[in-house]
Formats: sequence, structure tokens, C-alpha cells
Amino acid sequence: MSNKKIIIAIDGFSSTGKSTIAKQLAKKLNYIYVDTGAMYRAVTLYAMQNKIITNNTFDPQSLISALPHIKLLFKFNSELGFAEMYLNDSNVEKEIRTIEVSKLVSKVSEVPQVRKKLVQEQQAMGKERGIVMDGRDIGTVVFPDAELKLFMTASADKRATRRYKELINRGDEVNYEEILHNVQERDHIDSTRKDSPLKKADDAVQFDNSDMGLTEQFERIMRLVNDRL
Ligand code: DC
Repeated sequence: MSNKKIIIAIDGFSSTGKSTIAKQLAKKLNYIYVDTGAMYRAVTLYAMQNKIITNNTFDPQSLISALPHIKLLFKFNSELGFAEMYLNDSNVEKEIRTIEVSKLVSKVSEVPQVRKKLVQEQQAMGKERGIVMDGRDIGTVVFPDAELKLFMTASADKRATRRYKELINRGDEVNYEEILHNVQERDHIDSTRKDSPLKKADDAVQFDNSDMGLTEQFERIMRLVNDRL
């Protein structure tokens, strides 16, 4: 393999296995992995903790004013093998994955000032290249010049089943119908919002992994990576 370092941008709908593939690629290539969804989730958690957003109210202006006080940091956990999300110096890795945050995160992600702040931070992380980043707008907005862009899809039912198993394994009490509804609602908000909607970049390679095993998927993607290196 050459010493050239590239940017790998992975976009797609929620629970399409983006982070699993991204973590595997980062490990194999010795690259940094950045889960940008965790950043939007952490801002949402801040908004929830400060009553800026609730199930039926949202004050975007207060959130915009609070943005300078929201400090996000990824810290690598060598035991887990990936970086955990810190919000104002607290590890929030577990809190940001709850269904309560999932229900509100798309609303927070619609605010252009939130997107601007996070996109700037993401671009700074990729300055040296050698990064795998997953999200919704990585190939279109954050790194339009990424050497490899992937766009992941899978049926809503398959994705809800994956998320359901993940949460049950963590010990959360969840209901499948609620998760399916959340997946479908986020698909809709994420792909129809005005600022940086989720869409496939023209030069992205699309993967429907509804019925594709992880090994096959990883091998196919590694062939694409090797072509670019
Ligand atoms: O990847 P995830 O499901 O953890 O992302 C949570 C939400 O964050 C997703 O529904 C939309 C938003 N998001 C975004 O708008 N842009 C990104 N680059 C990443 C996530």
C-alpha cells in the first residue's frame, strides 16, 4: 500500500451500518474515524439538558446563542478501539444514543448555524487527510473533494431491526414500532431539510446492504480504497 492518505466520506440513511464499516476501514488503514452524527447528537443533548428543546417545544434562537458554549471533543478509548464523544468535558457516549435524543436530533440538525459550526470542526479534523468520516453531508458539503465517497442504503425495516437489537443488547427498553417510526421520520426530515439535505453525491458509490453481509461489503469497499491509493 502507498503512503498516500485519502479522505473516505460515508453518507447514508440512519442505521445503514455506516459506522461499523467506517470503524473497520479506519482500523485497517490506521486512519482517524469521525462519527459526525455523534456531534449533532451531542448538541441535541445540550439543548435537552438546557430545556432549549423538549418533545413539543424548540427555541432555535437560544440554541444559536449557546453555540459558543458547546465544546465537542472526541477522545480515543483504546479499550473500545474508537473515540468517544465528550460534551463540555463529560463523556456523553451513552446518553447521545438514547431514543429520546434520536427523536429530537433531526430538528436540531436543521438549524443552519449548528451545521456551520460542526462542518467547520469536521473540515479541520480532515486537514491532514487519513480520515474516515460518516454522516449525511460528508461527500456533498464537508469534503466534496474526498477521494472516495460511499452512499449506504438499506430498507427501513432492516435498519429498524438493527437499531432495535443494538438498543436491546444495551439493556434499553424499546419498542420496535417506535424505532421504525423514528427511522422513517428521520429519513424524511434529513432528506428534505433546506440546508445540506441527505443526498447521494454524483460521484459516490452506492451500496444497498439490506442483504449484503459485512465481510462482502468490507471486501468490496477495500477494493475501491486500494484503487484510490
Ligand atoms: O448517524 P446518526 O443516526 O447518529 O445521526 C443522527 C442525526 O444527526 C441524523 O438523523 C441527522 C443528523 N446528522 C446530520 O444532519 N448530518 C451529519 N453529517 C450527521 C448526522
